[in-house]
Amino acid sequence: MLSVAVCVSGGGTNLQAIIDAVESGRIVNTKIVKVISNNPNARALKRAADAGIEGICVSPRSYETREAFNQALLEALTAAEPDLIVLAGFMVAVPACVINAFRGRIINIHPALIPSFCGKGYYGLHVHEKVLERGVKVTGATVHFVDEDLDHGPILLQKAVAVKENDTPEILQRRVMEEAEWILLPSAISLIAQGRVWIDEKGITHIKES
Ligand code: GAR
Repeated sequence: MLSVAVCVSGGGTNLQAIIDAVESGRIVNTKIVKVISNNPNARALKRAADAGIEGICVSPRSYETREAFNQALLEALTAAEPDLIVLAGFMVAVPACVINAFRGRIINIHPALIPSFCGKGYYGLHVHEKVLERGVKVTGATVHFVDEDLDHGPILLQKAVAVKENDTPEILQRRVMEEAEWILLPSAISLIAQGRVWIDEKGITHIKES
């Protein structure tokens, strides 16, 4: 059984997609053991509570220094003993101490086709604003493993989504979620739970046939 800790910051629709997929059996052999939010008011925490999952808040505002917050985040994650950490709309740069402790065992969902529209400043709705400003006709979402560099680790799954005439950032965000994110993130977790994902020496991911 794969133990999963999910880190969130806001609405938690990706968390909900994971919860629903575990319940429906679309994600196999997986248990969500903890939800951690940096934001005490995150709707995601309510979603965790409604599903009977332990949810806690570790907010940078509760700590005098960033280092103290980083240690608290590491302790909260370590206490959950997860096999996998899923960043599902987590708007915090994951500290090096967490990456070192869980190397190769952290995945993130990003609302664009990496390496486009990613890195510093590219998060949440801003990604879709920048997609529309640039005028690209195809965007999408990416699930990738997390390393020290922002939005940079090995890419696991991607799905393309059309940009349409008259899209607003909000409309496009919703389409990317519905057509890509809520499908990709559960799929990625299930593949990992089945032991079907490996990363080669060049940092390329591969998926074994079932
Ligand atoms: C999602 O679109 C996710 O891809 C994005 O934030 C949103 C969270 O929504 N994440 C990032 O931008 C990370 N760089 P949710 O809280 O409803 O899942």
